[in-house]
Amino acid sequence: MKDRLEALRAEALDRLQTVEDAASLNDLRVHYLGKKGQLTEILRGMGALSAEERPIIGQVANDVRAAIEEVLARKQEAFDRAETARRLQAETLDVTLPGKAPAVGSLHPLTKVAQEIEDIFLGMGYTIAEGPEVETDYFNFEALNLPKNHPARDMQDSFYITDDILLRTHTSPVQIRTMQAMKGQTPVKVICPGKVYRRDDDDATHSFMFHQVEGLVVGPNIRMSDLKGTLLQFVREMYGSQMQIRLRPSFFPFTEPSAEVDVTCVKCGGRGCRMCKHTGWIEILGCGMIHPAVLEHGGYDPSEVTGFAFGMGIERIALLKYEIDDIRHFYANDLRFLSQFAKM
Ligand code: PHE
Repeated sequence: MKDRLEALRAEALDRLQTVEDAASLNDLRVHYLGKKGQLTEILRGMGALSAEERPIIGQVANDVRAAIEEVLARKQEAFDRAETARRLQAETLDVTLPGKAPAVGSLHPLTKVAQEIEDIFLGMGYTIAEGPEVETDYFNFEALNLPKNHPARDMQDSFYITDDILLRTHTSPVQIRTMQAMKGQTPVKVICPGKVYRRDDDDATHSFMFHQVEGLVVGPNIRMSDLKGTLLQFVREMYGSQMQIRLRPSFFPFTEPSAEVDVTCVKCGGRGCRMCKHTGWIEILGCGMIHPAVLEHGGYDPSEVTGFAFGMGIERIALLKYEIDDIRHFYANDLRFLSQFAKM
């Protein structure tokens, strides 16, 4: 039995010398030392040995196991080291390669334009006021001189929630809310940006939801020339100092007189093109002197103060600024569209 053990040791050490990879090494470990391996196989004969022989053979068997294990461990370590070296080689980083810039988001063009409009008016001493998007009939219509059944309500098809509550169709209700909150103090000088909702069919120029900025100034001796000067200043800061405006008579129930404001065509500079239908002008907003009835709803005495108001669509201002031809681009969240504004 001792001879068999010695032979096993010799054979095992011999074969271990030439093993070439970790998988074969493991095969040999199982073959010689595994539960059903050669060593166990030989030791099964231990039972037949005499009591004197048993410890001696036991000692030899332990030596053989230790010798094989030692070589196995040494080989294993060598393979591990080679594997680590191979990995390090394969995963070498070239720190001189150009990096990949992380994708950075940017403000939505409507947010940018809204902020720009706000900045321009903040620069003229306005503050920002806000109101709810779910509004009462009173603030959205009644207090703006649009009593029930007034035909002008049809100008703004509304989303009603109840008979008396609706999604605001414009930012003008914030005029009333602001005046009431100011409790008769002057001057009132605010802009009111926000979302508005109308029952329109969506197309290139209409959306059931869009954004407006309302402007409101109330004080003693506020005149239409103040309105015109303010809007001219705004348009020049927004589109360039060469811009002109013109006011065309119009109608809103909450202003009298009322006007529609045109700006020099941003595309052709006023010479006339398809965009401005060869007029040289493009309409950008509605405005007027606040109707006395509206001042009264706001808690102001029309014999003491006057005021002006204007309302513009942020989408429209942005379409003209960036020469975009379809309002729906603003809501599609297509990165090919949005990413163009990252550096503007
Ligand atoms: N509220 C009007 C609209 O949405 C715009 C407007 C505001 C006109 C203020 C005059 C004064 O069409």
